[in-house]
Amino acid sequence: MSGIKLISTGSALPAQEVTNFDLEKKVDTSDEWIVTRTGIKSRHYCGEGESHLGLCLAAARQALERAGIEPGQIGVCLVATLTQDTMTPSAACVLQKELGLAEDTVCFDLNAACAGFVYGLHTAECLLAASERKYGLVIGGEVLSRITDFTDRSTCVLFGDGAGAAIVRWGEDYPSLSAVMGSRGNSGVLYIPGVNTGDPSYIHMDGKEVFRFAVEVLPRCAKEVAAKAGISLDEVDRFAFHQANQRILDHAIKKLKLDPAKCTGNIAHTGNTSAASVPILLDQLVSSGQLRSGQKVLCAGFGGGLTWAGALLQLA
Ligand code: ACO
Repeated sequence: MSGIKLISTGSALPAQEVTNFDLEKKVDTSDEWIVTRTGIKSRHYCGEGESHLGLCLAAARQALERAGIEPGQIGVCLVATLTQDTMTPSAACVLQKELGLAEDTVCFDLNAACAGFVYGLHTAECLLAASERKYGLVIGGEVLSRITDFTDRSTCVLFGDGAGAAIVRWGEDYPSLSAVMGSRGNSGVLYIPGVNTGDPSYIHMDGKEVFRFAVEVLPRCAKEVAAKAGISLDEVDRFAFHQANQRILDHAIKKLKLDPAKCTGNIAHTGNTSAASVPILLDQLVSSGQLRSGQKVLCAGFGGGLTWAGALLQLA
């Protein structure tokens, strides 16, 4: 058996918190509609002077400091995102310089939408096995407010900005992530036009179809991860599911018969932060003592692509 353990976490949210009441002033919506349909009460948006890089950097620095390791010990740096500041250089590439990572660190961005961070964990596990340096930095960071169409009330109330980071370490005697991943090419249900289409790069979504997809794939993915790890879902200490919509989460919790106390989320005050959602939640679980040394957390994400991914991560 070989794999990675979670060593430390960090996260960063923009200073500006935007409540549903703030949105009511510029969008034809209501706090009551948003809370009932999604569980979201507020989200954070980047303001002047804040950026994708700034959020990723803050989260990464916090995680590095808590791990008590030097940047030069990192062998792999991955950023899961679809809203990096520049197409090139990638966010991971810029972090190489800003964090002082060694030049031979494997640095790249990865786009698997809201499943991106868990894709990143699995990718880091594979790459670290072949790396001389056994620490990896995996970040999920998004500035979704910049690709939100504020004339579309069915999407604009859902999203927020933020970043989360994890330092992981590969060990020969560490448990495997037992990662499960999938993708189902679908360009119609949830998409953002690319630079070559000439269309503004806004999030387009068929909410009902995404809902159907999510309630199908999230419980299945969680079950498959546990089966691959050879444990029952009862033996999992915590669940860190992508925070897209409280109703999707409630559905999965009920279908899997999970203890809701093990499924604490943060959607009420972050909204959906896509690839950043799972690592921000992980950081909040670790910082608040809800995820402790030796415990196992089942992470799962799902989103545009359509993509999904799940993994069982143990806190060192
Ligand atoms: N405020 C007020 N009314 C609204 C709003 C809003 N923000 N948005 C839509 N409505 C109205 C619609 O116009 C419609 O009115 P009508 O009946 O007069 O035509 C009514 O509310 C119902 O609209 P629906 O789209 O049917 O609302 P639904 O109950 O499906 O909820 C939602 C929409 C919340 C998006 C839901 O479909 C959903 O949760 N889908 C999952 C998608 C999701 O979570 N995506 C997250 C991003 S993707 C990802 O992370 C995977």
